[in-house]
Amino acid sequence: MKTLEKIQVILTLLSDGQFHSGQSIAQKMNVSRTAVWKLIKKIQSWQLEVFSIQGKGYQIPGGLELIDSTRLFESMQKQQSLFQQVTASVCVDSTADCVAKKWQQNPGVGCVYIAEYQTKGRGRKGQPWISPFGANLYFSIGIELPLGLSALGGLSLAIGISLANALNPITNQVIKIKWPNDLLVNDKKLAGILVEASGDHHDTSFLNIGVGLNWNMQAHQANQIDQPWVNLKPLLKSGMSRNDVLEFLLCAIDCGLKKYLSQGFSVFKRSWPSISYSYGKPVRVLQNSANNNAQEIFGIEAGIETTGALKLQTEHKVKIFHSGEVSLRKT
Ligand code: BTN
Repeated sequence: MKTLEKIQVILTLLSDGQFHSGQSIAQKMNVSRTAVWKLIKKIQSWQLEVFSIQGKGYQIPGGLELIDSTRLFESMQKQQSLFQQVTASVCVDSTADCVAKKWQQNPGVGCVYIAEYQTKGRGRKGQPWISPFGANLYFSIGIELPLGLSALGGLSLAIGISLANALNPITNQVIKIKWPNDLLVNDKKLAGILVEASGDHHDTSFLNIGVGLNWNMQAHQANQIDQPWVNLKPLLKSGMSRNDVLEFLLCAIDCGLKKYLSQGFSVFKRSWPSISYSYGKPVRVLQNSANNNAQEIFGIEAGIETTGALKLQTEHKVKIFHSGEVSLRKT
């Protein structure tokens, strides 16, 4: 058995939240107690709390709900989803890289990669995406679309809008989108979406859609995150599990993509004024210029273009932004 497979066995045993002695784990896996101890150390280095108490053994306080790929696969089959393959791993470098690697071998098959932990999670602008074990949802979708790159205007926003529109009815707080694609609750980040597209300009494109959504992260797991954040779990109106929510999000993206393919971006664009965090408000857009000097532009957020670009009403004219960071200006 490979190390990650052994870890998967230990996690499955400990997921019940009970104590399991080192000896009983070792026997089940046919390894030594020292080997179990080393594997537990590895798991702890992934920011998952595992108690180790002499005479009692190991315990994950409160237990753990691991992602159930079989359940997700069955649900996708039932819905005739665009995604036909699903892989859940305990640890990968980045689910985005899993999609990229998979496509080098077998392009075109709609696939989903989910991880409990990412060693090199990537955010926008080359930022790391901190991914403590099992605390949040980290997944990437690879999908080929019969549209050239030049026809993908607004697609990334269409995914963000689909997720926000799906989540709003099931939460007791309002979820807004901060352009270009953050899901926010009261100014705090709930989720980040990173869409990478490749392909040709006319016929075919390959999308790598990555979503990181905060589920039940603890403050001590987030000390490297330099912006306010919020978890989804406490906001849910009914007690959905982590797997329930993941299934729901995959379904929302599947439906969103199908809608985009049949109706284009305009149908998503209509909901922008009500779902945008900054629509009609005074904002500052921070842009990195060619010589890496950040430039600040002030104005009123005036909606989005069909390309997904942001419109800003400045003193003299409407400016269009294809990249940049938006923040609200205190009035
Ligand atoms: C952002 O910066 O807001 C985008 C964050 C995207 C993070 C997700 S987590 C799953 C997938 N794998 C990655 O390495 N990044 C994306």
